[in-house]
Amino acid sequence: MNNIQFKNTSIAYTDTGKGTAIVLLHGFLENQKMWDNYVAPFTKKNRVITIDLLGHGDTECLGYVHTMEDNADAVHAVLAELRIRKAILVGHSMGGYVALAFAELYPENIKGLVLLNSTAKADSDERKTNRDRAIKAVKQSYIGFVSLAVANLFSENNRERLVEEIENTKKEALKTPLQAIVASLEGMKIRADREVLLHLTPYQKMLVLGKKDPILDYEETKAQITNTEVEFVTFPDGHMSYIENQEELTKILLQFFKKI
Ligand code: MLT
Repeated sequence: MNNIQFKNTSIAYTDTGKGTAIVLLHGFLENQKMWDNYVAPFTKKNRVITIDLLGHGDTECLGYVHTMEDNADAVHAVLAELRIRKAILVGHSMGGYVALAFAELYPENIKGLVLLNSTAKADSDERKTNRDRAIKAVKQSYIGFVSLAVANLFSENNRERLVEEIENTKKEALKTPLQAIVASLEGMKIRADREVLLHLTPYQKMLVLGKKDPILDYEETKAQITNTEVEFVTFPDGHMSYIENQEELTKILLQFFKKI
């Protein structure tokens, strides 16, 4: 694990392999460990960078609101340090929101984009209200909030089959400090709508969704790629395709990287 200083904040990352760079960005309450099973297959042909986003894993908090743009700037600082000019970005959920902010801020540095269980849409009013509820809930009961939030990421039919994986995800999530949870919820709440990027950007893009995602409405999220060139992949399960559909997802991502 390496780190750089960005705005007086330590940002943790890993850098393995050679070739076109792939940057893997985790979601809310996760950290770069989520990619543990992906780094080995991906580094056969590519250079793989994993980054702990603000307040997650071994990266420190930057403030009380972590905007998607702050996170994108931190990602950009890591790539600048590594002298990587162009990269393929893969973002899981909140990591996808960060990848989109990066795509908007640094269009010359992006070569491909994968939104994994993520969306280019901004929060609806209902989701914004839910963010405020979540902020209250986590302040009242940190452990209760994290446990429930993690269980809710998996499709219901997988909650028995994947007991161990859910426990593991919870254990990692509980490393995220309260300040980071609140700052991320605030940042996600105010994020911009970036659907236009799905239409107007020249590089290859892919959207991966789980049909039973308890967090993202499948039909509504899928609708945003109508009349775009974005490749689309559906899995039958929840928000955690990287666990629930690991083998298939690995294959699909490798195929996507090969094309670029
Ligand atoms: C995530 O998994 O990163 C978040 O739950 C996404 C969100 O809340 O919008």
